[in-house]
Formats: sequence, C-alpha cells, structure tokens
Amino acid sequence: MSERSSQVIDQLRAHLEYYLEMGIDRVHSRVKAGAVRLAVTGRTRSKSESSNSGKGSKDSRQTILFTDSRPVPNQDSSLEDVRHDLGDCERCKLCQGRTHIVFGSGNPQAALAFVGEGPGADEDREGLPFIGRAGQLLTKMIEAIQLRRDQVYICNVVKCRPPQNRTPEEDEIVACLPFLLRQLAVVQPKVICCLGVTAAQTLLQVKTPISQLRATVHTFQGAQVIATYHPAYLLRNPSAKRKVWEDLKKIRSILSPDHLGN
Ligand code: URA
Repeated sequence: MSERSSQVIDQLRAHLEYYLEMGIDRVHSRVKAGAVRLAVTGRTRSKSESSNSGKGSKDSRQTILFTDSRPVPNQDSSLEDVRHDLGDCERCKLCQGRTHIVFGSGNPQAALAFVGEGPGADEDREGLPFIGRAGQLLTKMIEAIQLRRDQVYICNVVKCRPPQNRTPEEDEIVACLPFLLRQLAVVQPKVICCLGVTAAQTLLQVKTPISQLRATVHTFQGAQVIATYHPAYLLRNPSAKRKVWEDLKKIRSILSPDHLGN
C-alpha cells in the first residue's frame, strides 16, 4: 500500500472514530439509499491508550468496516424528534446563560442548509437563528441566489448563546454536534453552506483556515459543502463580500433550477 493510501486510511479512521466517540454509529448513504453502520477496527486505541499519549496500539490491521448496509429507516423521522431529544438541554455550560435554545428554522426538506456558529443576543432572545444584523445580511445572501429564507434550512453548531458571543469551546461543540448532525441527516440538503470557520472546521473536522476551505467543494454525508465567510465577518470586512458572492454563485450552480425560487 502506498504511503498516500495509508495516510488517507489513517485520516478516514480518525474521522470515523470521532463520530463513534460521539455516539454516532451510522452514516447515511445516498448510493445505497439508507444508512450504513460504522465499525472501525485496526489501529483503534482504547480509552486508556488514548489518554497515554504516544502509546498507541501496535496492532497494524488496516480494516475499516462499513457493516449493515441494508437500507434502514432514518433514525429520526423528523426534526421534531431531534428537538424532543435535545429537550431542555444542560449538556454543557452554555445552558447557564441562555434565554432560549436556538434549534433551527426553515424548510425541513431544504436543498440548501446554512450552518452558523452559535446564537447571538437577538437569537437568544427570540429563539430563532440569524435574525440580528448578521441574519439580515444572510437573508440578502439567500435572496441573491433567488431563494427565500423559508426555502432553506438555517441552524448553528451550538444551540445556546456563548457569553459575549465568544467562539464556542471544544466541549460545547462536542456536546451539541450530535444534534446538528441529526438535523442535517433529517433535512438531507443537497448543499450545506458553512458560515465561518467554526461551522466549516466542525463539520469537516479539520483545522484548515476558512480562506483555504473556501477553495474546495467538500462533501459530507452525500451533501456538497461550501465554506464561506460568516456574515458577521462581512459586516466588519465589507471587502470580503466579493469572495462570498463567488461562493454563493458556486452554490447556485450546484442547485438545479428546481431548487431556485420562482
Ligand atoms: N451568528 C451565528 O453564527 N448564528 C446566529 O444564529 C446568529 C449569529
């Protein structure tokens, strides 16, 4: 096996382990029109080995198994199921300062989903995503590609407002991520637009800067993923609007005419 193949397998294993550790054991496959259950074997480290840095298992098996590929019903038949499970969430410290959980809004069958970072003050007060100044700019971005807000789905990586709008911390993202993934699995958008670095790095599980992530159309669970600058960044740096427009045109070119508004 070439060194490159081995690196790709290691990256894939790390990616799958990340999901398994979060309790996500299925990925949806459009090819098989169902879900495949994940099992990762090979150089998987046990919890004690993981905490003992640098002492990974010497097991050199290279198997990554996707088992149980029979079509199975979607685990969540609706966004209401996901919202129900989220409940009055206290899984991380962000619950302490919130007024409302901001779950998401829009078309549950949208071809295009936007994922932001986390609610701000306006969103926390109203319980709806992207309704403040950044949200108004997002509405303009959506309309620029001939769609209306109610045709797309909008949500965030974390559902509760971080204090002083700081960037969500790792533990907060990890606590909330299963719900974002379940939302996206229900909506099954054709395109996911990550607004800003937090959304892009979280979904793609990389540490690459947004300036580089923009350059590529990525894939995630059968959806095409486009990363662009966050509207709040655009409010501070209007000169970046030209780049965002390029990204929006990419989104528009992927969506078929059926998905564009009348
Ligand atoms: N910024 C975000 O990332 N999300 C919102 O909902 C509002 C502002």
